[in-house]
Order: sequence, then C-alpha cells, then structure tokens
Amino acid sequence: MKLLIVNGPNLNLLGMREVDIYGRLSYPELVKQIKQYAESYGIETDFFQSNHEGHLLDYLQTHYQDAHGIIINPGALTHYSYALYDCLKAIPLPTVEVHLSNIYEREAFRTISVIRDACIDQISGKGIGSYLEAIDRLRSVI
Ligand code: DQA
Repeated sequence: MKLLIVNGPNLNLLGMREVDIYGRLSYPELVKQIKQYAESYGIETDFFQSNHEGHLLDYLQTHYQDAHGIIINPGALTHYSYALYDCLKAIPLPTVEVHLSNIYEREAFRTISVIRDACIDQISGKGIGSYLEAIDRLRSVI
C-alpha cells in the first residue's frame, strides 16, 4: 500500500512559523516521523510540499495512479481552492484532509474547507497526530 502525503503553502516553514499554533517540529522532522509510523504498518509513503497551487495539482495528477490513498494538508488553499477540490474529485482515491491546528477555533475564514466534500474524512487540531490518525483511517478503508 502506498500513500501520497501532500502539503501546501507555508508548511515548509514548520518549526519557525507561529510556533504557538503549529509547534516546534520542523517539516523534515514531521516527514520523518510520519514515514516511520507508516513503515511500521508496511505502508510506503511519497511526500510532496509546494507553495504553488498548480504544482500540487500536477503532482496529484501525475502520481495518483501509483498510489492507494492521499493525505493532504492544503494549508490556506483549504479555504479557497476550487481547483484543488476539482482535482481531488477527479482522482478516484480515498483522501483524508488534515490540519495541524484546529481550524474551527481560529479566524472565521478557516472554518470553511472547500475541499472537505472531496475527502472521506477531515482530521484537525491534533498536530502530527492528525497525519497519523489519517494513516489509520486510510488503513481501515484500503
Ligand atoms: C493549516 C491550517 C490553515 O488554515 C493554514 O492556512 C495552514 C495550516 C493547519 O495545518 O493547521 O497553513 O492547514
């Protein structure tokens, strides 16, 4: 089983970005820990991060055929990218939307996810645990 783990704008800045909200774990450390957790279940992972909407779409369109599921944290694109919604709707893989912070306890604009309906689940507010729980969720359906 192989999962694509996709992160959007500004997630490369983890560890220095608003540490009170996102914590001190860097992006490379986040990747390492998620990869280790997946490997403990024999799951292969492919990670991609970009600050560019179109690059995220290109990556998903190019790689989904080799994979069984998707975990995506689209960063701020969550709240307005209909292009990402259309892309996820087009791809016939189970997808879980994740967020490190609780998007329902912050600014009002973050309470709307335009990609939610293209995903089988949304996990928010558990830090790296959101990604680990998403792996468990996908294990239960794939
Ligand atoms: C985020 C929440 C988004 O609102 C924000 O724009 C991010 C990160 C999260 O992981 O908590 O960049 O997706």
